[in-house]
Amino acid sequence: MTIQDMPATVHVSNEGLARVNGRKPVDMERSAGRLLRSSTEKFYDAEIDIDWEAPWEVDKHYLPEHRVSLYGTKIWKKLTDEQRVELGRHEIVSILSFGIYAENLLSSALLRMSLKGPLTDQRALYALTEVGDESRHSTMFARIINKTGLEPYKLPKGSLGFAKILHFVPLGPSVSGATLLIEEILDRAQREAMNDPMMQPQLRQSMKIHVLEEARHITFARLEMVEGMQKRGRVSRAWHRGVLALVANLAYPMLINPRVYQAVGVGRLRGVIAQQTSPNYRTNLQFMSEPMIRFFHEAGMIEGKFTKMMWRATRSLPDDLR
Ligand SMILES: [Fe+2]
Ligand SMILES: [Fe+2]
Repeated sequence: MTIQDMPATVHVSNEGLARVNGRKPVDMERSAGRLLRSSTEKFYDAEIDIDWEAPWEVDKHYLPEHRVSLYGTKIWKKLTDEQRVELGRHEIVSILSFGIYAENLLSSALLRMSLKGPLTDQRALYALTEVGDESRHSTMFARIINKTGLEPYKLPKGSLGFAKILHFVPLGPSVSGATLLIEEILDRAQREAMNDPMMQPQLRQSMKIHVLEEARHITFARLEMVEGMQKRGRVSRAWHRGVLALVANLAYPMLINPRVYQAVGVGRLRGVIAQQTSPNYRTNLQFMSEPMIRFFHEAGMIEGKFTKMMWRATRSLPDDLR
């Protein structure tokens, strides 16, 4: 399949949900085998599937305008068109920088998973295959950042140290849930942006590649999470729910680095306050999170007073689940 033949949207399997609802045990070997076959049939190499030589188009955007964090605020109204595009350019670099960190951490969890079981089973082979996908994605994200001419938005040393602790968090539903948290919110945002003719062509192509390959990652993580919850007792399930809710509260604010605001002459604190108090903040998070949150809800990951309160604090819950 060439990049031109790629479908505009890819259906993400709802098998995980059906399993939860029907309480059927998840057959990970069979599912991983199917995902492995799909991995050999549909994959892309951004090195050759993206036209890196073509220059950025002057009138195109780097993020859809209505998804830029300050959209609709008083500050936004004072920005020129050029400054709005510039802010979008910095925000996509911040999101892609975060994406590289997230994929790196996720790959380390997948490598641990491949060592945990019988070593040569379908699940282990699929985990290794997914590490290959993520390596290509992070390379693609890095190439895009380099093409913008901007520096990546690196995490401060403190949060990077905290992120390293995740290498030692026991595998299980909270790790699969954290994986989904990153993969599904990016997936929803990218599905919208890749169909937006106002977006830069190279970004649209990179998003199509990512969405197509992430569809199987999402299916895998959903099945892993459901299987993990099915196998655990009440106390362990509550612990994993709590950890996931905590990760959600830490991860959402990390997508946009406060330093992006300085690119348009807005101080970090002023930018963050404007972003956090904008009604658009909740709208964007709800949009990006909805399919994932509904899945978490059905899978029993958003239950109990404490967990619900933590999720409410993220402001990503759809109105009917708040
Ligand atoms: Fe990825
Ligand atoms: Fe992924």
